Amino acid sequence: MPNLFDPITLGNVTFANRLWISPMCQYQAVNGVVGEWHHAHIGALATGGAGAIVMEATGVVPEGRISIACPGLWNQEQVEALKPIVAFAHSQGVKMGIQLAHAGRKASTMQPWADHKIATEEEGGWEAVSASPLTFHGLSQPRELTVDEIGELVAAFGQAAARAVSAGFDFVELHAAHGYLMHQFLSPLSNLRSDSYGGDFAGRTRFIKEVVGSIRANVPAGFPLTVRISATDWAENGWDIEQSVALAKELKALGVDLIDVSSGGTVHDAKIPIGPAYQTPFAERIKNEVGIAVSTVGYIETPQLAQSIVAEGKADVVMIARAALRNPRFPLLAATELEANVTWPKPIALGKPRPTK
Ligand SMILES: Cc1cc2nc3c(=O)[nH]c(=O)nc-3n(C[C@H](O)[C@H](O)[C@H](O)COP(=O)(O)O)c2cc1C
Repeated sequence: MPNLFDPITLGNVTFANRLWISPMCQYQAVNGVVGEWHHAHIGALATGGAGAIVMEATGVVPEGRISIACPGLWNQEQVEALKPIVAFAHSQGVKMGIQLAHAGRKASTMQPWADHKIATEEEGGWEAVSASPLTFHGLSQPRELTVDEIGELVAAFGQAAARAVSAGFDFVELHAAHGYLMHQFLSPLSNLRSDSYGGDFAGRTRFIKEVVGSIRANVPAGFPLTVRISATDWAENGWDIEQSVALAKELKALGVDLIDVSSGGTVHDAKIPIGPAYQTPFAERIKNEVGIAVSTVGYIETPQLAQSIVAEGKADVVMIARAALRNPRFPLLAATELEANVTWPKPIALGKPRPTK
């Protein structure tokens, strides 16, 4: 079994290690364009020793953003703004991914720290759309997408993937988790459609499969594609691990390289047994039953826990989010603690902890 700081190859890309930064919304873009905040934020993470950074949920169309301050990849200005951030990460030997997203019925919000949640039209908000006109807790009523609009979104995901390639990204992640649009189609709790995009498993998974096909058709051969799913809604009659395993099999056949296994997001008050590595059993099951690479995420906050997950073959990659917000150099310290061989960037090497033995 490999160790946490051993390399991993997906498609044509080899990542220096298996401790990656999970996507995290920053709510700092203007008209979907990233700026100084992202230079500093991604810059700090890029000097922190991770094998890869997955940039946050990024709208493939303006209405696909979660908030009015989320980034987008629907125009060239957005591509140009991302290029130097990606180039800096590359200068540090870090691979860069970007999470392509559509928020669906969870879209058109203010920044989470604003005094109210839903953005009005004057504030830059828009009409939310979804698989079905079902409102998510406290958000606005979405409009049901027409079949033509679904087709346009399938194309938009492909075009955004092509822009990600031109911005220099090494891979893309499709966001199909956390109750956002792709997941809204997957879950029987949020998809009540009676046309070919709803109903049985084949209908509810049709949209994501078309999107994966569209992305694959717009990136070079060997360009890694990962998909983040919620393995379960943690709710009766919802999306569950059995359906996730079945979906992962089909995604593997469509050329997806890794399933990034998260959970939840469809039901606002679902009872979730949160604790260290609580989502890892789902990743392990998908890895074993599908034979595809998986990443795991969720309360993995010590180097020892991350190392044991990889060394015991439960997941191929460990993603960290909040631990890296607290300390963007978490992977460097983890490697030092695990006595793994990583090179600290020269300007910060004097910060390396003194050996205890
Ligand atoms: C500030 C913040 C923003 C997040 N934004 C995203 C996002 O854009 N896309 C996503 O898939 N998950 C997002 N997440 C979820 C994380 O990627 C991660 O799955 C979750 O925080 C659990 O990992 P952790 O216990 O290491 O924090 C976000 C989490 C935080 C704390």
